[in-house]
Amino acid sequence: MKHVRSGRGRFLVFEGIEGAGKSTQLPLVERRLGDAGVKTLATREPGGTPLGESLRAVLLDPRFTGMSPAAELLVMFAARAEHLAKVIEPALAAGTWVLCDRFTDATFAYQGGGRGVDATQIAALEETAQGGLRPDLVLVLDVPVEVGLARAGRRRQMTMGFPAAPAEAGLARGMTDRFEREDADFFRRVREVYLERARARPEHYAIIDASADEDTTAERVLTTISKRFPYRRHSTRQAYEAGI
Ligand SMILES: Nc1ncnc2c1ncn2[C@@H]1O[C@H](COP(=O)(O)OP(=O)(O)OP(=O)(O)O)[C@@H](O)[C@H]1O
Ligand SMILES: [Mg+2]
Repeated sequence: MKHVRSGRGRFLVFEGIEGAGKSTQLPLVERRLGDAGVKTLATREPGGTPLGESLRAVLLDPRFTGMSPAAELLVMFAARAEHLAKVIEPALAAGTWVLCDRFTDATFAYQGGGRGVDATQIAALEETAQGGLRPDLVLVLDVPVEVGLARAGRRRQMTMGFPAAPAEAGLARGMTDRFEREDADFFRRVREVYLERARARPEHYAIIDASADEDTTAERVLTTISKRFPYRRHSTRQAYEAGI
């Protein structure tokens, strides 16, 4: 039987390679949870705080191509420590469901699988920065690397064509960031780590086939969330608070 920590929010993380659809799905899912009366907070990593967003700009900046893997790892966890202390922990304590676009699994996947940093080093920093805090559910949006990269490429084309489209801080519109410049083999390793981690701890992970259209994928994500944490779809806030 699932242990329901009454009063505490759920920590849901969206993961997957570039172009898997994390940033597309998160607001769709947030809206649907909100409609069901669930209090939500959408955030992202690296980022989520003023300090974290500044560190994000550093991490993505192509001027820092060749940053040492250890430096990259430490900056990532610095952003995460701030995010946890200032945003995630207080929200969960207040009963809010936190929907986070990437979290520590991305570090295992990108810095570990992608860059070859030893997973035990990452796990040690995870312990330091997070203590016992882990996501309640990691949604691994899974697509073949070719599909993800093709989507990310189309997105880049689109942002070039639309002057109003937001650009990442420190990046000109349509410019590739430090991670997007990696080759397909890098992303194959990243994808493999996500899948391995999900298979190793299925109670805290779900692998979602994200190659279908946006609405179909959103349904898959919502079905998974509601099975693990049965909030009442289409119910009022009162029913949610009383019923779960
Ligand atoms: N199911 C889908 N089918 C087709 N295109 C999609 C789908 N989901 C998202 N897209 C498009 O693919 C592009 C990448 O999606 P999105 O930005 O959500 O990916 P992401 O996982 O957040 O990537 P990144 O890791 O680079 O931030 C966007 O242009 C988006 O509109
Ligand atoms: Mg995104």
